[in-house]
Amino acid sequence: MVRRCKTAILISGSGTNLQALIDAVGRGDLALELCVVFSNNPNAFGLERAEKAGIPTACIQHRDYPDRESFDDAVIAELDQFEPDLLVLAGFMRILSNRFVKHYKGRILNIHPALLPNYPGLNTHQRVIDAGDEWHGSTVHFVTEKLDAGPRILQGRLKVKPGETAEQLALRVQAVEHHIYPQAAGWVGSGKVEFRDGHCWVDGKQAQEPVVQSF
Ligand code: GRF
Repeated sequence: MVRRCKTAILISGSGTNLQALIDAVGRGDLALELCVVFSNNPNAFGLERAEKAGIPTACIQHRDYPDRESFDDAVIAELDQFEPDLLVLAGFMRILSNRFVKHYKGRILNIHPALLPNYPGLNTHQRVIDAGDEWHGSTVHFVTEKLDAGPRILQGRLKVKPGETAEQLALRVQAVEHHIYPQAAGWVGSGKVEFRDGHCWVDGKQAQEPVVQSF
């Protein structure tokens, strides 16, 4: 039997991306084994999704720790008990310390609701509307020390509709995320996509640009 990539998912909230990953793994579509769902928020609905799917859960509240480093050390100690090969950030609303990123170097994925390098940070949907952009979307990327700036793996893009509100756009982008995040995580799990020398490699070749899919 093929060894599946042990994957920890980190959430803070509703966890719709987590659900998309659970569903894709449940269909047998991905070379991933979801070994733990971790949250910094005990009320995150994603924890219930995980329990329902029979995935172990863990929770450590950041406000119980005096600073980012000590919280991150506690998270590392907790996660490492599950021996994850890969960490998937799915709406995890904490900035990671450099030592956390170093500890899991090249093994952390994030999804950001914008076509990076455009619009790092928050309120991406409104910023896209305000700028009058034609295209918007979401990006799956490896996490490095620099926020929202690690090597990009896969982008899902869609055309902004005239008169669309930020809320409407957010919902459409979220639906795109539910396709691209399981797909990209599966690529990393199967070894199709790798983090090497600070870059994203696809099928053994260094990729300058992410794979782009239009929806
Ligand atoms: C997603 O929109 C993702 O882009 C961002 O956080 C959100 C998580 O949503 N990083 P959910 O909890 O998966 O519904």
